[in-house]
Formats: sequence, structure tokens, C-alpha cells
Amino acid sequence: MIAVAIDGPAGAGKSTIAKKVSAELGFIYVDTGAIYRAVGLACIKKGIDEGDSKAVNKLLKDIDIRIIFFNGEQHILLNDEDISGEIRTETVSMAASTVSAIPEVREFLLDLQRNFAKADNVIMDGRDIGTVVLPNAQVKIFLTASPEVRAKRRVAQLAEKGESADYDTVLEDIVKRDYNDSHREIAPLKPADSAFIVDTSEITLEESVRKIADIIKENME
Ligand code: DC
Repeated sequence: MIAVAIDGPAGAGKSTIAKKVSAELGFIYVDTGAIYRAVGLACIKKGIDEGDSKAVNKLLKDIDIRIIFFNGEQHILLNDEDISGEIRTETVSMAASTVSAIPEVREFLLDLQRNFAKADNVIMDGRDIGTVVLPNAQVKIFLTASPEVRAKRRVAQLAEKGESADYDTVLEDIVKRDYNDSHREIAPLKPADSAFIVDTSEITLEESVRKIADIIKENME
């Protein structure tokens, strides 16, 4: 089996790029942020404070999170309900970032992620894939871009969906989430020692896809 780990901060283009590259290589693409979002959403639905680790740990006993694939597209189920659309909001993003600092949450989600790499060739994206989830991945990539570029892309992405967003608020959220994700004690966001670092600030999506696909092809043996 071949495993490719793509880590990096929010909005660097991980999922868009990983989806295209995995289609080209015939690999399964697993977006691990979705499962942290599922835990964040479960807290919101139950009215639990995402930073209250005791309450969140108790909640973990009552929830079942699954990733399934329909026509090659990842769907995420929370207690059998498809929440794939519902998890894509700014509120859920922040909730996911907060719960992801709780060690028991990370432990709870570990096997779910690792099992995919046992069964198939995968490209898995997240924050700690190359460092913790799949430390033996053949190829590790750390994808990044400046916070300003990431905020601009996010606003454009929302505009495409017909949603308006204030650039300064989006930028503020990105900076806050970067800080949370890279300063937590357990499995913080950081490049794995052997990761290829790719900065997409100055290159187009197509150029990023080419660059990542080439790195993978050259290094997967
Ligand atoms: O990739 P994303 O923006 O959907 O991730 C949402 C949050 O989940 C992110 O802010 C941090 C957390 N996360 C994590 O801690 N580890 C991962 N492997 C993936 C996401």
C-alpha cells in the first residue's frame, strides 16, 4: 500500500489539490478534518462547550463517526446521519479546532484514520498525518500559503457559493485557527522531518496540482 500525507494550515488548498491528485493517481482521498468537524458539530448540537474536555469526553461515548464513499466522494456520518454539508461552516471550523486539542478526541479518531491506509492506496490530508497518524507514509507534503492569500481564496470560494464574507473576519479566523492548531500540546500542526514543503502563495491551483503530483510520482517507490 502507498500512503501520501498532506498536512498544512487551513485554506492552503489541501483538499482541492489532494482530490485532483488522487483522481489522477487512482488513490482514495481521505479528508481527516471532516471527522474533527463532526465532533465539533456534535458538541454544537448537544449544546456542549467545545473546550470542556470532561463533557466532550463523555460525548465521545455516545457518538459514532464514519467515513463512507459514494461515487468516489467522501461522506461523513454522525450517528448514521449524513452531515457532510452541515460541517462546512465557520462556526464548525472553530469548534473543530477547539476539540482537536483534546487528547482523547485525537485518540478516538486515530484508528478510523489508520484503517483507510491499511486497505487502500491513500492520500490523506490533515494536520498531523505525516507526524502521528501515518508516520511511515512513503511521501509527506506540507502545503502552506500566506494567511492573506488563504483568506482571499476563502472569500472567493464562499462568493462562488453565493455567500458573502468579510475579508478581515476570515483572515482573523485563519490566524486564530493557525495559532490553535500549531500551539496545542498534542500532535500540533508542523511539518514532518522528511516533508516536502510546498508554498502555494505565488502559484496557481493547476501549478500546485502538477507540483504535488510530480513529487508523489517521483517519491512513492
Ligand atoms: O482541515 P479542516 O480545516 O477541515 O480541519 C478542521 C480542524 O480540525 C482544524 O482546525 C484542526 C483539526 N484537525 C486536526 O487537528 N488534525 C487533523 N488531522 C485534521 C484536522
